[in-house]
Amino acid sequence: MAAKMACAKSAQATFVFVVATGMLFEGVFEVNKLVIDGGIPLSGEIAVHGAKNSSLPLLAATILSGGECVLHNCPALSDVDAACKILSYLGCGIRREGSTVTVNTENLSHFDVPDDLMQEMRSSIVFLGAIAARLGRVRISFPGGCDLGARPIDLHLSALRQLGLDIREEHGYLNCVSDGRLKGSNISLSFPSVGATENIILAAATARGQTVINNAAQEPEIVDLAEFLNRCGAKIYGAGKSRIWIDGVETLYGSEHKVIPDRIVAVTYLCCAAVTGGEVQLLHTRPDDIGSVLPVLEEMGCMIRCSDDTIFLKAPKRLNGGGTIRTMPYPGFPTDAQAPLMALSTLSDSTTVFVENIFENRFRHAGELIRMGANIRTEGKIAVVQGVPSLYGASVQATDLRGGAALIIAGLAAQGKTIISNMCHVQRGYEDIEGNLKAMGAQVYWTD
Ligand code: UD1
Repeated sequence: MAAKMACAKSAQATFVFVVATGMLFEGVFEVNKLVIDGGIPLSGEIAVHGAKNSSLPLLAATILSGGECVLHNCPALSDVDAACKILSYLGCGIRREGSTVTVNTENLSHFDVPDDLMQEMRSSIVFLGAIAARLGRVRISFPGGCDLGARPIDLHLSALRQLGLDIREEHGYLNCVSDGRLKGSNISLSFPSVGATENIILAAATARGQTVINNAAQEPEIVDLAEFLNRCGAKIYGAGKSRIWIDGVETLYGSEHKVIPDRIVAVTYLCCAAVTGGEVQLLHTRPDDIGSVLPVLEEMGCMIRCSDDTIFLKAPKRLNGGGTIRTMPYPGFPTDAQAPLMALSTLSDSTTVFVENIFENRFRHAGELIRMGANIRTEGKIAVVQGVPSLYGASVQATDLRGGAALIIAGLAAQGKTIISNMCHVQRGYEDIEGNLKAMGAQVYWTD
């Protein structure tokens, strides 16, 4: 089912699934609008769940092991379900117990990923490198544009070609075949693309010889992927730095791994507390992973205290402006945190300027925030937010995952009722958002 159709479908507050080999995840979510009665200062503790953006490449990486892998702290999200559906289609056995997902990739019986499964999430492109490494043959559909604008995969394709994969683009499909094992290569990325770096690591882990990635992405999710693969017997060095070396090994084996905490979920809940003049203690988080965001929150007047795995935030009476925020590859300010911070800045006492350097169409939430009384002007990759004293509730639409999170943040502070439709976008990346907000004292509920 295509992403847009999945969104027409609804979401349910609770989800239940235990999947045996070959069984698909079905009808996981069933209501689609979130109602927020705003204006209540939030206060409480939130345990941050595992990172979506790590879980997806990790699930793809299990393919390389050819055995049983156990992933702990794997969040129950519709995007994770989509990755599990792909694994299931490929012939893997999958079982979820709580936040632990066990994948057995011994019997991989397909080398293709059907178009409807590919379209469920953009990150499915990481299956390209993983399947190519394991089977030497892949057929997947070409991922189209998405709600953040055009999302090309030229860097993925040229790197995989350098590793010896013959890729033909035919009728919207990528038909790929290699001459046996892939071959190590020296690859220089013109931009430190996260997805391309992941695909190269996956393809090179079992390639013949050494691969070097220059200008590699340095995101924590890259480090997590490399650590998992190294536990499976890979030899990957330098992950988290701009040059990564991979000494290809002949085979990998199954292993166990704990997914890192989701840094954008952490930012989102910090913003929820900050926007309402409240306070929050985040547990199971890693402050270092959002080292570029915490100083902005402090500049806006929030008091922040961190330990190794907790973050406490107390909001000021009125937020200051956030200055100029430029999204950059890690360790810069994350593009995924731009929308949540924009929602926060709408209520500050001055101006905040956002420069979106990663995606071309990532201000669609601004229009919805304006419907709630925000003062925002956008032009190309720049958005100028002039803080207002208050927002008002309105019927708004989640335009994408983080844009939806921004509307929740705004709705929590707005006077009156905010009704957010298309919540399926938000469910791609936030586990039990309603339950977590309620636990902090928010008045929030699902409706049809
Ligand atoms: C991006 C984010 C990542 C975030 C993820 C989910 C960056 C650098 N990446 O990763 O942190 O977790 O979204 O929201 O912030 N590009 C090309 N050709 C390619 C691949 C990418 O031109 O083959 C361009 C994209 O159009 C975009 C930029 O590179 O402008 C970043 O892309 P990339 O890092 O690959 O995106 P994701 O992997 O989706």
